[in-house]
Amino acid sequence: MSSPAPAFDSRPQGVSDERILVLDFGSQYAQLIARRVREQHVYCEIVRHDITAAQVRQHQPCGLILSGGPSSVYEQGAPKCDPRIFELGLPVLGICYGMQLACEVLGGNVASAPAREYGRARCQVRSHDDLFAGVPAETDVWMSHGDQVSRVSDEFEPLAATRSCPIAAVRHRRLPVFGLQFHPEVTHTPLGGTVLRNFLTSVCGCQGTWKLGDFARQTIDQLRERVGSGRVICGLSGGVDSAVTAALLYRAIGPQLSCILVDNGLLRKDEQAAVLAEFTNHFRADLHVVHAEERFLRTLAGITEPQEKRRRIGHAFIECFKEEALRIPDARFLAQGTLYPDVIESGAAPDGPAATIKLHHNVGGLPDQLGFELIEPLRDLFKDEVRRLGLELDLPEELVWRHPFPGPGLAVRCLGEVTRERLDILREADAIVVSEIRSADLYRLTSQVFAVLLPVQSVGVMGDNRTYENAVVIRCVNTDDFMTADWSRLPYDVLAQISTRIINEVRGVNRVCYDISSKPPATIEWE
Ligand code: XMP
Repeated sequence: MSSPAPAFDSRPQGVSDERILVLDFGSQYAQLIARRVREQHVYCEIVRHDITAAQVRQHQPCGLILSGGPSSVYEQGAPKCDPRIFELGLPVLGICYGMQLACEVLGGNVASAPAREYGRARCQVRSHDDLFAGVPAETDVWMSHGDQVSRVSDEFEPLAATRSCPIAAVRHRRLPVFGLQFHPEVTHTPLGGTVLRNFLTSVCGCQGTWKLGDFARQTIDQLRERVGSGRVICGLSGGVDSAVTAALLYRAIGPQLSCILVDNGLLRKDEQAAVLAEFTNHFRADLHVVHAEERFLRTLAGITEPQEKRRRIGHAFIECFKEEALRIPDARFLAQGTLYPDVIESGAAPDGPAATIKLHHNVGGLPDQLGFELIEPLRDLFKDEVRRLGLELDLPEELVWRHPFPGPGLAVRCLGEVTRERLDILREADAIVVSEIRSADLYRLTSQVFAVLLPVQSVGVMGDNRTYENAVVIRCVNTDDFMTADWSRLPYDVLAQISTRIINEVRGVNRVCYDISSKPPATIEWE
């Protein structure tokens, strides 16, 4: 933490040039496919489904993967690919919709399946060459489809079948084109990694030499080229996403970076000081701190409805940020630490074919309002990839492994009205929760841990006196991707210690509860 700020440097070139393109037909899993490819040490990019064959050639990929998608290939307006991509001589793997499309283009029939198939299925594998090398004759796969390939021409060889899907995998006899009706990218297909690895190595001939450090170097080079002599503003939140974004930019453009930290009064105990210390230890960039506690408390006064709280906080944040950004006159770009889950939960790429799942938090209208060009270097990555990237960039472990904290901060953990007094109670209780989890060496073993203040009083007895005070909930979850989560089985003595300390040390609290709900159906935050 106390190492001197690194000098502004230019990282070496020389990254692996093996790459795979994923053509996105609107699958919720397109990024997961890309991630699984990266896990095999092959660089992977997601491109629009209608990329032309000539454009594909410019990327010089080793192979193409056609993703799944929510449409039916025979529907009007269903997303299609340029049929000439099959004439490039490149290996192609179609997954679900991608397989159906490849078969349709190359002489197969796609129809609504007699029985829709969602979930686990037993798959009989007939051929153990290429894709299925090392896969036993019977294996579990994950299906999620209403349509399937009902017939293929003699040009195709069926490779596998399930009970309700007789053509669950195919290979073209002449072209290096393969199709899988099941999803190899999800963990419910236990040998999916083997199948993908076989495609990458045996079919595409990849060596698997790409590393996350290559991504850092490539991204830094691209950022430097894109920004030129311009100035970039980056919002800091104290979280790993914005820190990694700032670190990439700092490596790319050094003194042309300006960072803004809005202290909205909704931060955790001592957080502003910690962010400042981390920042000054690691960067020599321009930093603007906006002290806006009063403004946020004013706008939240009397508001109890969660979405209204979020709306007001978002609005106040934009105003603060805007005012400060206008003091940085030559800024042209705005950098955000948007990750892939933020993008997909917000309805994926605005021009893409994916279905919207829910509207999320981080992808706001700020750049449009300010007329900035948006820079989102982490947009394709998952949280754990961002953490590994942070380590590659020499960010301190404490920052890299910090649990996520929501943009609206303690306001969405202070149920009911948000006042300074209630925030102070919550802050103290939260600090105890986190410090006890750290003391028990559980911080790295849990994904997110915090306190919630309920708008509920209950009766207690302290000394000889009756009390009527607040209830605090401890929330602690384990999750890989924050889209689903389970409550952490914390040891009783750790829970006991947290409870005792909160009740003894935080004035105004006489009851502590532990939240034992998973997500879904609950969410991680209480609001
Ligand atoms: P939920 O509560 O939806 O949270 O299960 C999933 C993850 O997202 C974080 N979260 C937010 N982050 N703005 C943010 O920047 C928000 O409004 C917000 N709401 C939830 C939450 O902390 C968890 O990590």
